Amino acid sequence: MQSDQVDPLVEAEKHPGSWFISPKRWADMERWHQAVAEIRRDTPVMEIDAPGFQKMHVLTRHEDVFAVSRDNARWHNTPMSVLGPDVQYEQMLEQGLPMPKSLVHLDGADHRDHRAVTNDWFKPAAVGRRQPRIDEIAEEYVEKMRSLGGRCDFAADIAQPFTLRVIMDIYGVPESDEAMMLELTQGIFGAADPEYLGDASDPFTKVMESVMRFIVYFNEITEDRRACPADDIATVIVNGMPGGCPIDDEHRLWYFIIIATAGHDTTSFALSGGLEALVRNPDQMRALGENPDLLQGATDEVIRWTSPVRHFMRYAQDDVEIRGTKIPAGGRVLLSYPSANRDDAVFVEPNTFDITRPDSDRLLSFGVGAHFCLGSQFARREVRTLLGRLSRELEHIELDGEPENAQSHFVSGVKHLPIRYSFR
Ligand code: HEM
Repeated sequence: MQSDQVDPLVEAEKHPGSWFISPKRWADMERWHQAVAEIRRDTPVMEIDAPGFQKMHVLTRHEDVFAVSRDNARWHNTPMSVLGPDVQYEQMLEQGLPMPKSLVHLDGADHRDHRAVTNDWFKPAAVGRRQPRIDEIAEEYVEKMRSLGGRCDFAADIAQPFTLRVIMDIYGVPESDEAMMLELTQGIFGAADPEYLGDASDPFTKVMESVMRFIVYFNEITEDRRACPADDIATVIVNGMPGGCPIDDEHRLWYFIIIATAGHDTTSFALSGGLEALVRNPDQMRALGENPDLLQGATDEVIRWTSPVRHFMRYAQDDVEIRGTKIPAGGRVLLSYPSANRDDAVFVEPNTFDITRPDSDRLLSFGVGAHFCLGSQFARREVRTLLGRLSRELEHIELDGEPENAQSHFVSGVKHLPIRYSFR
């Protein structure tokens, strides 16, 4: 972005719809949920017409997010299914970068055929067979916690590298490249957070730099797997035959990017936010340690509570009306998952963290419909495995400072969780 241009993300902070479009608003989730509860009650279909952004309507109720997500014929994802200021897309085109073509950007048969390329790797039975490896990696990180001597930043020291290792392991990315994968993912998902901006002059430049470095890296992986196929997802993508034809360069690149990025920051934020909630509710931490039957519900509650993916966009294919608001063909809506997950029309006392709640399986954190999260089985197993072990093996745990949230309106959550603990 040129220095004389108005920064749409800075302008967004002043807008009444800032809760959804300004990265800074995601730093304080208590305030966020308070403000959005009012919006959900009074303006469930809220228009946002902010400088530098195409107009949109925000859907905050569970019923609406659910209905639109399931109606994939009427509501398309398109290459702009993640919210960004117009300038971001203009700059991508100007610099000759390919418009996004990952699974979340595809529709119809194109989406179905590309999803089928890796689908088998993510089915419950296939993911179940990887449980021993997830246990092994969890063991490594529990040992790391022990070696850190009773104090650590759980988010940065444990949750991030643990979730990264699980996904990179199936991907076939060597451990020596994991730090770079984390940096590039944060460069795409968290570019607006000053901590992840690095040397880049602004978030848009950061996103583009990260995409360009991914292109170089994944081109090398492609060459390698063509020459030496392996038992990993990278090989499956390189040899993919969506709709019976070899996968093309752009789809392959974006496939690599989504599998590399979608799997770890998301799950890592669920783990760090989940552990924070358990530390603040020690009776629930104790109950979980004593009764493994609570683990499944606790995992869903953690993922409902943290809702690390903050939105996806959908585009109307014909004129639609939602709760009396007309949305013309081509108009777009933002699906607010964290808001839908706190809707009291569905969840009893939604702002109470309760691992025994009977309604936690109605969570919308993974979306619903044709784009339902491909990696939900991995995410659930990772959360269940690590939080299950910690609840059983920790004698004591407390906060050792204030947790800090990442500033991103796309994927965010607790990025620093200082804790003090002892093992049994
Ligand atoms: C707690 C952790 C996670 C959350 C909250 C989450 C959330 C989401 C959401 C909201 C969507 C879009 C759903 C929709 O549009 O209806 C999605 C799609 C996706 N997720 Fe996840 N995700 C998580 C973990 C993972 C993991 C571990 C992977 C593994 C690689 C993964 C891979 C994907 C992929 C590939 C898609 C695109 C699916 C498609 O468009 O067909 N996610 N996820």
